[in-house]
Amino acid sequence: MTAQIIDGKAIAQSIRKQLSAKVTARKEAGKRVPGLAVILVGADPASQVYVGSKRRACEEVGFLSQSFDLPTETSEADLLALIDKCNQDPSIDGILVQLPLPDHIEESKVIERIRPDKDVDGFHPYNVGRLAQRIPVLRSCTPMGIMTLIKSTGVDTYGLDAVVVGASNIVGRPMTLELLLAGCTTTTCHRFTRDLEDKVRRADLLIVAVGKANFIPGEWIKPGAIVIDVGINRLESGQLVGDVQYDVAAEHASHITPVPGGVGPMTIASLLENTLYAAENYHD
Ligand code: GUN
Repeated sequence: MTAQIIDGKAIAQSIRKQLSAKVTARKEAGKRVPGLAVILVGADPASQVYVGSKRRACEEVGFLSQSFDLPTETSEADLLALIDKCNQDPSIDGILVQLPLPDHIEESKVIERIRPDKDVDGFHPYNVGRLAQRIPVLRSCTPMGIMTLIKSTGVDTYGLDAVVVGASNIVGRPMTLELLLAGCTTTTCHRFTRDLEDKVRRADLLIVAVGKANFIPGEWIKPGAIVIDVGINRLESGQLVGDVQYDVAAEHASHITPVPGGVGPMTIASLLENTLYAAENYHD
C-alpha cells in the first residue's frame, strides 16, 4: 500500500481563503475586523519564526494584528499587566502568548490570566475543561487542525483505535480529548509507557508529537492506518523531518501527513478560525 498524502498546506490555504471572504463580508456589513494580539517574550529563534508566520497569516486574511515583542528579562508582573490591557481592549478578540516562556515566568499563571473568551490558543483550563466535557468552544489549535485533516480523509472515526504519542498540554492531552469526542478508543503514550511498539502497532489512527526525528519506525505502522506527524525536526544535513520515519510509514499507512506541509500550516489556520469564532460569538 502507498499512502495518500494529506496536504495540510492546501487545506489550510482553503480555510484562509474562506476566512478572508468572511472578513470582507463583515466589513461590508459595517462590522469590525477581528483582532489578534500576538505576544512574544524573548528571542528564541524557532518562536520568532512561528510568531512571524502567525502575524503574517493574520494580516493576509484581513484581521487586525497587534504585535508585542518583549525582552527575555520582562517580569511576570509586566507580562500579566500587558495581558490585562489586551483583555480590556475591545479591538482585540484573541490573545496569543507564544510558548515556551522564559524560566522565571510561570506559564500556567499567564495562560489563566487570559480571558477565556479571548483564549484563541485554547489553553485556558476553562476551554480545556469544556472540551473534556464534550461542549467545546475555543479548541487548542494543533489538535483542532489535526481533526480537520482527519475529516478530510473521509474516514469515519467512530470506534477506531487511536494512539497519541506525547502528552503535552499543547498537543497530546487536548488531542486525546478531541479523539474521545470523535468516538475513538484512545490511548495516550508518554515517557513512562511500557512497550510503545505494541501500542503503536495497534493504532488505526496514530498521532505523534514528541519532537524527536524519526522516533517511530515506519515498520510499526499498522496496514491501512492514518498517520499524523506533528514533529518538525531539523537534521544536521539541514533537512526537516517528522517524528515518524516517513518513507517506510507511507508504505503501510492509508493516509499520512508530510513534514513540512502537513500539521504545521493547520495550527495557524485553526488559530485564525478561533479568532473569528471569538469575534462572532463573544464580542460582536
Ligand atoms: N508553542 C508551540 N506551539 C504553540 C502554540 O500552538 N501556541 C502557543 N502560544 N505557543 C506554542
